[in-house]
Amino acid sequence: MTADDVTVQVDPALAAASERAMAYLAGVRDRPVAAAATVDDLRAALDLPLPDEGVDGAEVVQALADAAEPGLVATGSPRYFGFVIGGALPAALGADWLASAWDQNAGLYVGGPSAAVAEEVAGRWVLDLLGLPATASFGFVTGCQMAHVTALAAARNDVLARVGWDVERRGLIGAPRVRVLASDVRHATVDRALRLLGLGTDAVEPVASGPDARLRVDALADALRASSDPTIVCAQVGEVNTGAIDPVAEISDLAHAAGAWVHVDGAFGLWAGASTRLRTLVAGVERADSWATDFHKWLNVPYDSGFAACAHPDRHRAAMGTHASYLEHAAPDGPRDQMDWNPEFSRRARGFAVYAALRSLGRQGVADLVDRCCAHARRFADQLQAIDGVEVLNDVVLDQVLVGFPPPGGGARRAMALHHGAGAGHEDEAAVAQRVVEAVQGSGECWMSGTTWRGRPAMRISVVNWQTSAADVDRSVRAIDAAVRAARPVTAKGR
Ligand SMILES: Cc1ncc(COP(=O)(O)O)c(C=O)c1O
Repeated sequence: MTADDVTVQVDPALAAASERAMAYLAGVRDRPVAAAATVDDLRAALDLPLPDEGVDGAEVVQALADAAEPGLVATGSPRYFGFVIGGALPAALGADWLASAWDQNAGLYVGGPSAAVAEEVAGRWVLDLLGLPATASFGFVTGCQMAHVTALAAARNDVLARVGWDVERRGLIGAPRVRVLASDVRHATVDRALRLLGLGTDAVEPVASGPDARLRVDALADALRASSDPTIVCAQVGEVNTGAIDPVAEISDLAHAAGAWVHVDGAFGLWAGASTRLRTLVAGVERADSWATDFHKWLNVPYDSGFAACAHPDRHRAAMGTHASYLEHAAPDGPRDQMDWNPEFSRRARGFAVYAALRSLGRQGVADLVDRCCAHARRFADQLQAIDGVEVLNDVVLDQVLVGFPPPGGGARRAMALHHGAGAGHEDEAAVAQRVVEAVQGSGECWMSGTTWRGRPAMRISVVNWQTSAADVDRSVRAIDAAVRAARPVTAKGR
């Protein structure tokens, strides 16, 4: 069958969807980045009575696009810098469309052999690219949080097995206590994963981070010495505000000497391993026991797409694997049944998009993407630093820039922010930060979100989009500058 044959047979609903998707993508660079519609507008447009009789599919798709488009945030825009949200590489998006069209149930090999093999290959490429052990097992999950759940289930079961407790059989009721040593600036999803795993947030013993937001190895050593309870250590490669990278090699050596499991939250930071220039930042990361990362952030694969890897495949498989008499499982040494490595039973074939992203970029393309985003982050920092009443609060080691709004002429408050948190003028700073973030978002020029860093209100800039150019950075700086001037009259420093 040729492409022409396919075209004539296209269902009108699919033709409408394809046309609307193409038009959206063609305009994403130019449309305002923020959503235009209010919640009331969207309810008015979408909240229709459920019809008794079905509506024509093409009409439904057109009406849905008409109603939804004003409420879309252009997260694929090269000037979207909110949270840590990547765009979608054309090859990855195309493969994701195919994954929907093919509609495989990628839980078992037999449910979609191509999906299983694409994941097997893509997973091996990822391990190689990120400098993780080639023998590690992996699962393609919805995101980094579920990667934590997957990997920390293996971790929990392992540390409890070492003290004679079989979690898979006995559960956690009556189990010895497990403690989790994690940075005081860990990501919220670590705590959520622990809640989902029945360990609870009380299991966490926060370990102090330094002024640079990296976990303090001396504090970890003290904490490890303080108890012989089964222990999991969570290291972080890429703190969500600052991009700070914990010293994973030292952490792993210390933790392993104390019999602990080391899990790495590398939602975006693990991708530093793909760059020859940045690889040293994550040196020793391969010494950990498990890793969690995302494809929907820096690899620019459409949502939702994350990755859990584990240095102990047997432990990983024991935590996730499942069997049922009506299923056709692959032979133990046969092809991959994804449900053995994932929390889901039925699932989307999300490996196709990752496979396509990696092939379309190649090893060099991934390195260039990471390096380019980091260069743009530094460009942001350099230009913002020159605006009076704006202060870059972090060392820009990766793709994250953290911006504060001290009083104009306020001089060096950075050290204070890093060491001591909020100081005098905090309320004013909070109001200004809020006004700046609102004005930037409202401008439609670019989109950044607010945060609080060590008590100090700030704005976060995260550069992970494959399309962002230096011109996009400069245009966004102008929008921030205008927002700062509107929030509080300032004087230009050296301009
Ligand atoms: C360091 C870190 N860990 C975990 C997550 C959670 O990732 P996801 O939203 O894919 O579950 C994020 C999200 O930004 C993150 O930055």
